Parts: sequence; C-alpha cells; structure tokens
Amino acid sequence: MKPLFITFEGIEGSGKSTQIKLLEAALTREGHACLSTREPGGPPISEDIRRILLNNEYIQMQPETELLLYMASRAQHTAQWIIPALEEGKIVLCDRYNDSTIAYQGAARNLDQDFISRLAAFATRSLEPDLTFLLDLSVEQGRSRIQNRQLDRMEKEAIAFHHKVRDQYLILAQSQSHRYIVIDGSMDESIIHQHILKHFHTRFLGE
Ligand code: TMP
Repeated sequence: MKPLFITFEGIEGSGKSTQIKLLEAALTREGHACLSTREPGGPPISEDIRRILLNNEYIQMQPETELLLYMASRAQHTAQWIIPALEEGKIVLCDRYNDSTIAYQGAARNLDQDFISRLAAFATRSLEPDLTFLLDLSVEQGRSRIQNRQLDRMEKEAIAFHHKVRDQYLILAQSQSHRYIVIDGSMDESIIHQHILKHFHTRFLGE
C-alpha cells in the first residue's frame, strides 16, 4: 500500500472527528500504519496557533490575520508531521486542510480564492490530498448537534456565514470531483463509516 493523504471536510457538527477515529481503527485492524491529525493543530506550534484562532476574546481578529494564522499552522503541521508520516509510508487522516480555508476564509470571509490557493501551495510544498471525504449536512442539523457545547470564535459566526461554507464545499466537491467523495452526514454514524470504508477499499485496494 502506498502512502496516502486523506482529508475530511464539512461544517461544524458534521461528524468528521468521529469518522476519522472509526476509519483509523478499521485501517489499523487491517494492518495499515496510520496518523490521524487535525487542522488547525497537530504539532505543538500549530496547536498553540489553534488556541489563538479559536479564542473567543479575539473578536477583533482581521480576516487577513486569520488567513495567515491558519496557513502558518498548516505550514508547520505539513512539514513537521504530515510529510514525514507519508515518507514513512503511513496513511494520514486529516480533519480539515486547504479546502477549509477556501470555504471559510475564501467564500465566507470573502478573501481572494486564487490568492489562498497560491498561499496554500507555498505553505504545504504543494501537497494535495489523494482523497477528500465531504460529510455534507444542512447548516441547521450541524447547529443542533453542537448547541450544547461551548462555541468557539468561528462557531459563533452567523448562520449566513455557515451557509456560505457549506455551499462552497459542494462547489469544491464538483470542481475537484477526481478526489472528492460526498457522504450524506445525516445518516447513522455506523452507516457513514461503512460507506467510507467501502470507498477506501474500492479506490485503493481495488475491491
Ligand atoms: P474544528 O472545529 O473542525 O476543529 O475546526 C476549527 C475551526 O476552524 C472550524 O470552525 C473551521 C475553522 N477553519 C477555518 O476557518 N479555516 C481553516 O483553514 C481551517 C483548517 C479551519
């Protein structure tokens, strides 16, 4: 099995982190070495940047600052964790990556998407995912799933912001259909997992 870089995208509450855990467990049982990680985050420098980005007190953060911090976190994460893990032959499962920046800072914050793509290529040494699962869910369903937790700076954005994010993901999934698989995130957790595992086996193991 060659090293693989698999990303998960979706609005808050779409179930990405649960599905990453389930997929990691299944792939480990099958004997594959995996690294599961998240953005913004991963190595300590990137986790520190995450705390700045999600801090509720930083309501004055400018979109440009936000974009550069997400990219700084990613540059460190890619160089320190993701690329080395791929070089060791691992399957890397990552909760969010460049497409989150296109959706949140591009579509929802209205920053230039071509510029974001160029910045992403610079920050990641042009590392692209082999496959991206979009767990698609209505904004209303996503909201209701996270309503009981303490919301962070991004989660507190208005509903219209989250609609722009979801719509942009669906556009990306169409324009990058060679690497995207869209999954209905409203299905049962275990059913979603079975779909994801089946897609993985079909695509990479030819089953
Ligand atoms: P999480 O809640 O999925 O851990 O992600 C943290 C938040 O950061 C989430 O609201 C999405 C947002 N985000 C961006 O706005 N741009 C990005 O590039 C990334 C990776 C996340």
